[in-house]
Amino acid sequence: MTSAVLERPLAGLTAESAPETPVLEVRGLSTRFKTHAGPLVAVNDVSFSIARGRVMAILGESGSGKSALLRTILGIQPTSATITGQALMNGVDLVTMSPKAREQTRGSWLSMIFQDPMTALDPLFTVEQQIVETLRRHTDITPAAASQRALELLQLVQIPSPERRLKAYPFELSGGMRQRIVIAMALACSPRLLLADEPTTALDVTVQARVLDLLRDLSRTLGMSIVIVTHDLSVAAAIADDVAVMYAGRIVEQGPIREVIRDPQHPYTRGLLGANVRPGQRERLAAIVGSPPNLARLPPGCAFAPRCEVAIERCATAMPDLLPVSANHAARCFLAQGVGAMSN
Ligand SMILES: Nc1ncnc2c1ncn2[C@@H]1O[C@H](COP(=O)(O)OP(=O)(O)OP(=O)(O)O)[C@@H](O)[C@H]1O
Ligand code: SF4
Ligand SMILES: [Mg+2]
Repeated sequence: MTSAVLERPLAGLTAESAPETPVLEVRGLSTRFKTHAGPLVAVNDVSFSIARGRVMAILGESGSGKSALLRTILGIQPTSATITGQALMNGVDLVTMSPKAREQTRGSWLSMIFQDPMTALDPLFTVEQQIVETLRRHTDITPAAASQRALELLQLVQIPSPERRLKAYPFELSGGMRQRIVIAMALACSPRLLLADEPTTALDVTVQARVLDLLRDLSRTLGMSIVIVTHDLSVAAAIADDVAVMYAGRIVEQGPIREVIRDPQHPYTRGLLGANVRPGQRERLAAIVGSPPNLARLPPGCAFAPRCEVAIERCATAMPDLLPVSANHAARCFLAQGVGAMSN
């Protein structure tokens, strides 16, 4: 990447804080909705932190609370939602921030890209008009400088013939190109943290791989941290440094992605990987049996118990904590914590 945009320091990314200071620290975050079926805890006591320039994947099946987690961090849940816990950026809690301060934070500190690029782009305006509008909303940049920055951003996300694409309307671009534009818009104000919700699901496999490479590249080059939500382990493996596996609103396994893939500790993660469940068992799992639970009607005990092929008696009544299994790796399973031998 040789864009001029990289040759000058990016506002907000010229760290006034030490590199090891987490860009985002989420502590005990929970999001509760009132539904017709009763209270539903979509995000349940979630904690993690992400350092500068790291990529973290949030991995899980449909309905596990991945999007709810990102929306809670971004502060775009309905006002009827009850949110507890903290999401700290540079020591400031995004959860208790005023709506005005949160609006200022979006774009400059953190930015989000959604699954479907068409919903993020307005069909009635050109690419240039949309990027310029984003820049002018969050900064006091002049129209001419904003147009120049829009061009630099298209170069940054490796759009061919960027001058021409600036004048294009979204419907004139391919799906991969549109998603690159959405990424360019998210980068417009140089956020420290990018939240990406299934950003490549709508793309075919080859384009998906290129967009993931681009995001990975941007994270490395700009020192920008990324939290990427996906239900696809191969996407997580392609881009992430760390992974948090979510099930029924909770993190059930967390750690460096290579270690989690090499040595998964939670039966659900093993199911996602299609790996062996029991020591010595050689056949591969075809899929995880059963379906994801209704979060408004969770069973007592471990939420995974009804689908877990290695559950012990205790799993039906007690909820395991998320506890370390090695230095940076934690799992929420009695067996991973050596409880099985004592109980069965
Ligand atoms: N605003 C809301 N009001 C009520 N329930 C909600 C709301 N938003 C999400 N939920 C519920 O929270 C749970 C988690 O939803 P979420 O959208 O976070 O899942 P997800 O992991 O992103 O799934 P998918 O992979 O399908 O996008 C679901 O049961 C969903 O119905
Ligand atoms: S705690 Fe029990 S039910 Fe839950 S994943 Fe571990 S073994 Fe399975
Ligand atoms: Mg989702």
